[in-house]
Amino acid sequence: MPFGIEEMFFSKTDKRGVIDDFNDVFVRVSGFSGEDLCGAPHKILRHPDMPKAVFWLLWNGLQNDKAVGAYVKNKTKDGKYYWVFALAAPVSDGYFSVRIKPSSEMHEQVIALYKEIRAAELAEKLTAEQSAQRLLARLQDMGFPNYGWFQSAAFGLEYEARQTALKAPPMLDVANTQTASKLTEDLQRELADLAGEFDGAEILTANMKIFAAKLNQGRAVINEVAKNYDLMLRDIQSHLKTLLVPPKSDGIWNMPEGQRAGFMLCGYHLLNEVVHGYEAEKAASGEAVTPEDMHQLHMLRSAYKGQSDKSVDDCVKSALTVQRRIEFLLRMVLGLSTIRIACRVEAGSLRQTAHGLDTIVGRLDEFQDRIETRMVRIQQLATDILMSIGTR
Ligand SMILES: Cc1cc2nc3c(=O)[nH]c(=O)nc-3n(C[C@H](O)[C@H](O)[C@H](O)COP(=O)(O)O)c2cc1C
Repeated sequence: MPFGIEEMFFSKTDKRGVIDDFNDVFVRVSGFSGEDLCGAPHKILRHPDMPKAVFWLLWNGLQNDKAVGAYVKNKTKDGKYYWVFALAAPVSDGYFSVRIKPSSEMHEQVIALYKEIRAAELAEKLTAEQSAQRLLARLQDMGFPNYGWFQSAAFGLEYEARQTALKAPPMLDVANTQTASKLTEDLQRELADLAGEFDGAEILTANMKIFAAKLNQGRAVINEVAKNYDLMLRDIQSHLKTLLVPPKSDGIWNMPEGQRAGFMLCGYHLLNEVVHGYEAEKAASGEAVTPEDMHQLHMLRSAYKGQSDKSVDDCVKSALTVQRRIEFLLRMVLGLSTIRIACRVEAGSLRQTAHGLDTIVGRLDEFQDRIETRMVRIQQLATDILMSIGTR
């Protein structure tokens, strides 16, 4: 059943999923009359191709107070079908769902995925929950650690594809939030790699101590240098660990704050269109928009914006902390340099008797260059995050 990419439809249900409000596009596309829809359970649209896994996830999310984005194939009254990308969320007395026409590449992948999951459900007589676990495992194979990650990626892609199809100017706030989100994940990866460098550095001082043990002259000095270097390394390492916050990927709904910010912001823009469209629709039909309807829509719109802003704030806070801490750690690395120079001086004076110390010092030089380069890169990433958020 065709409908335009510019069209958007919504429905509202009570807590049981019984429809109590909708717009004209919904009536036209579903083929049901307003009387059919009002008071009907939402499952009158259920298409037999739809895996029950998806509805299990939808209800799990809504009942846990989450906004849920999902691809859904629906059945019309006369047996046709239409695909939507739906964004559903809890409101005070029920649930509200906005739908757009899916047009991104992700939709093609999901059609194949749903086919596979539905076939498994029927062949293996899976319960809805078992099937949801199967779906989550397949999403992991596709690179999404959980449903939260998947839905934010899918919604971002659908939103962007729709804007492109409508030849609408790109939404700068969405683009910048997505950039900040990606940079925040890059930043965490860089921090983890830097921590890895420090873990690997223990071998450098261990080698130095082994080397010192073989010396007659200079043993105490080299040992002391190695001990100090070790202490400094450990100190830096423990500061670094406080900055490591791997993106949340456990559970079904967790997602990195940057992704949440983008997801909620797209939700806000969709709701904006719904509010304006609904007002225009009511005005055209001469019907009054009930204050209750509008209130719900406005509340949901501000909730999406509020959650997006909060997640953006979290990204800003973590970028600022990283900037401050790395500045401090760079100063500590300077301290490491002092010890390394002491070691180099010692290597010079022991050159005749201590062959091999030069190589060890050379490794320290390389290590130090690598961590300084990484730290500068991390600072740049933190600055870029703040810049992209600042230009939202
Ligand atoms: C806000 C909201 C929107 C929903 N939209 C749809 C929909 O478009 N299509 C659909 O088949 N089910 C939709 N559902 C889910 C149905 O309530 C129902 O769970 C689903 O059709 C599967 O039916 P079953 O649970 O009896 O198997 C929606 C539920 C809510 C709360």
